[in-house]
Amino acid sequence: MEYIVINGQKPLKGCVQIGGAKNAALAIVPAAVASGGVCIIDNLPDINDVHNLANAIEKLGATCRFLDKHTLEINAGSINTHIADYDLATKMRASYYLLGALLGRFGEAHVPMPGGCDFGYRPIDYHLKGFEALGAKCVLEHGWVKVSAEKLIGAEIYLDCPSVGATINIMIAAVFAEGTTQIENAAREPHIVDTANFLNMIGAKISGAGTDIIKINGVESLGCGRYTIIPDQIETGTYMIAAAITDGDITVKNIIPKHMDPLTAKLRDMNCQVEEGPDYLRVYRDGELKGCDVRTSYYPGFPTDLQPQMATLLCTASGTSVVTETVFNNRFQYINELKRLGANLKVDGRTAVTKGHCVFTGAQVGATDLRSGAALVLAGLAARGETTIGNVYHLDRGYECFESKFRSLGADITRIERDE
Ligand code: EPZ
Repeated sequence: MEYIVINGQKPLKGCVQIGGAKNAALAIVPAAVASGGVCIIDNLPDINDVHNLANAIEKLGATCRFLDKHTLEINAGSINTHIADYDLATKMRASYYLLGALLGRFGEAHVPMPGGCDFGYRPIDYHLKGFEALGAKCVLEHGWVKVSAEKLIGAEIYLDCPSVGATINIMIAAVFAEGTTQIENAAREPHIVDTANFLNMIGAKISGAGTDIIKINGVESLGCGRYTIIPDQIETGTYMIAAAITDGDITVKNIIPKHMDPLTAKLRDMNCQVEEGPDYLRVYRDGELKGCDVRTSYYPGFPTDLQPQMATLLCTASGTSVVTETVFNNRFQYINELKRLGANLKVDGRTAVTKGHCVFTGAQVGATDLRSGAALVLAGLAARGETTIGNVYHLDRGYECFESKFRSLGADITRIERDE
């Protein structure tokens, strides 16, 4: 069993290169399945979810070849089945994008109900409602999602909430729908724009990505191309918060500063300096950290995927802070583990309140999902004494080489093997 061991209270200083966006990669790699040709995707993060997704696509009959650890060549021309591999597809949530890609290209897809981070009920009803609007038949049985259509016809689709997954999945399927599809109340995250840009590069006709109305004019087929995905907004934010919580000075490089605006604003409210360059941000404290209130929302609001990391930081600030989680109905499960490190967070439904002034002290904890694992690492980096973190596989799903990146900033952090 692997554990991360951290001896905390070392201010982290230096530069860190940010990798490709996990949630862009997990949309664009399956979107390449919709193409009949060879696609090469650069700047992929070297994380388990990407490898599992590539393996799942190979099981469909495609050939996937890593030209280097961040570049994947996919030849989807040889796909010979529309049934996804159960074991691989249930390891993550993003396997649901295979529904849109296979339905669009072949008119049929069987994919197991997705896995992924467990923080409350995570249905895919908006995805299926979109597919049905396009003329598909959707059946949920024995843990599988089965979608099929003689022909996809463009439609106007209104999303009850700006779901990232549903927006992307419907967009991929609609690429081949006859006529025009319009997705209203669409999500606007950067990885949606990235996926639309990739699809347009190989022949799709998508406009409006990044706004709440996306239009897709159907095409007959998609071709080949080479595409570089955007940097990871959440990895970037995690290292920005690491600078603040360890009273360090970190420059995050190879990023798109605009994507970080919600966090940059909050860190400045908390008495941090955030210096902005064309492709970097430098973060350091300017005196005592001040508490503030945070309310997660859909982009361009404060990202829910930075909520656990931000709540951890707010525990150490001065004054009361209120964190409101509006996107998911149960994303505070990590707080029980954080309390082992001394966190003074009180949860009431969708809000968590801290009185601040917390000095974390080392303990044995376990990650409950990807971003809660990141929050525990941040708390361990700030804690007095030694922290041991279990269930490291959660972190490996979304953070490439995080211990070596933190070590390069001065952290005393190692990965060990130990009997459970
Ligand atoms: C994506 O999940 C991300 N995952 C999540 O990142 C991220 O937290 C989330 O978007 C919000 O930004 C990937 O991209 C692989 P949603 P997704 O559909 O698509 C409800 C991480 O840590 N909903 O935008 O599942 C849903 O329950 C992961 O990188 C429905 O009710 O999120 C939630 O309350 C964690 N029915 C809200 O909408 C649906 O059909 C937003 O979910 C779909 C969603």
